Amino acid sequence: MKLWEGRFRKELDKKTNDFNSSISFDSRMFREDIAGSMAHAAMLAKQGIISGEDAKAIRDGLSDILADIESGKLEIDMNAEDIHTFVEAELTARIGDAGKRLHTGRSRNDQVALDIRLYLKNQCAALRKQLIGLIEVLCDKAEKYSDAVMPGYTHLQRAQPITFGHHLMAYVEMFLRDLSRLDDACKRMDVSPLGSGALASTTYPLDREAVAGELGLAGVTNNSLDGVSDRDFAIELAGVISIIMVHLSRFSEEIILWCSWEFKFIELDDAFSTGSSIMPQKKNPDIAELVRGKSGRVFGDLMALLAVMKGLPLAYNKDMQEDKEAIFDAFDTVSMCLTAFTPMVKTMKVNTENMRKAAAGGFINATDCADYLVGKGLPFRDAYKATGTLVALCIDRGLTLETLPLEDYKSVCGLFGEDVYEAISLDRCVAMRKVYGGPAPENVRGQVSRARAIVEKLKDLEK
Ligand code: ARG
Repeated sequence: MKLWEGRFRKELDKKTNDFNSSISFDSRMFREDIAGSMAHAAMLAKQGIISGEDAKAIRDGLSDILADIESGKLEIDMNAEDIHTFVEAELTARIGDAGKRLHTGRSRNDQVALDIRLYLKNQCAALRKQLIGLIEVLCDKAEKYSDAVMPGYTHLQRAQPITFGHHLMAYVEMFLRDLSRLDDACKRMDVSPLGSGALASTTYPLDREAVAGELGLAGVTNNSLDGVSDRDFAIELAGVISIIMVHLSRFSEEIILWCSWEFKFIELDDAFSTGSSIMPQKKNPDIAELVRGKSGRVFGDLMALLAVMKGLPLAYNKDMQEDKEAIFDAFDTVSMCLTAFTPMVKTMKVNTENMRKAAAGGFINATDCADYLVGKGLPFRDAYKATGTLVALCIDRGLTLETLPLEDYKSVCGLFGEDVYEAISLDRCVAMRKVYGGPAPENVRGQVSRARAIVEKLKDLEK
């Protein structure tokens, strides 16, 4: 039986009914739907719109339904049109006429807009925890490897020396921005649309603030048309999650490179790697590859939401039912990715020796060699050219700047002295980069403390 039975003479075509139905994907909002209805019913009674007995019957009935769904005693009927219809029909079957009074002054349009907001608010809280967990793991690792020298790259060519800790802290900065973007988007979503009705609010004297307060929302929407038509929050959150996936994907790409035989900077734990069905020697970084791959699917969710919304006239249109699968998938995917990614990073073994070897072999101290000459009074451009000549000389002879004899240095520029070897030693090259934000080990430890303090503050806010 349909909610609109008075006006219609025929049942909806069976296959079309399945097409029209959203229960297969919106049933996961049953808790939020019930919470919204309980708050609405309590407010209706307080405003004298329904009786106190009816409100009590409704609330008791809804809390029984909630308990029965949670215990598995009540199965959600997949033939229902959506979760809102299912809960209301079940309530009416249980308590009779009082159940039919629940929907007074409400439409499924404001109801669904409320349910998604409540549901996504919880999802945001869970995602926030996962991001904090990853940041904490990265901070611990960065602290441990704050003086592990590795090559920093541009164009994937060895460029200048950094430390592994510094590299990891770059990701911490990204994930901290993600956290603040998430909180920001969540704040804008934290309002109740209930009372917007189908589009034009209602003639009943509803207390919208009371409903919002009972549901733990910070306020109410300001325009009834916007209240039911707005899905900006879903788009924003899909955008936030897409950026998180970009970060996870770049990180995954580096992990995949680092555990190749060519790099061997890290080794993934067996529990987070896979083998090959034919090549017995293989240990593959499937988890990192999957995270990289799943970023594509999340970007698809964002595109779907944008495309669904772009041509819709105000107010509600059924197209908007398409919002849920996309935004739910984005949250499910990022959550699955983080569930695997964080322990994979936590358990990976770091080969500091290979990192140092790679750093020593690629002339990444050439800038420091030029800076040495600048220190002796040579203009930087001349120092740059002299060092370039030295690098070419080393390459011809199969040497590095560390192993090139002093007389060769002197043949290129008379300013070179014995102290050049100390000036280009990798540890010194890193230690000298003390500028705020730079890779000097003490700086990196400072970055770790800063990130930890931010995370502690965020955790306190949660309490
Ligand atoms: N299942 C619908 C959705 O997800 C609920 C709102 C239905 N409203 C309507 N006027 N048909 O959007």
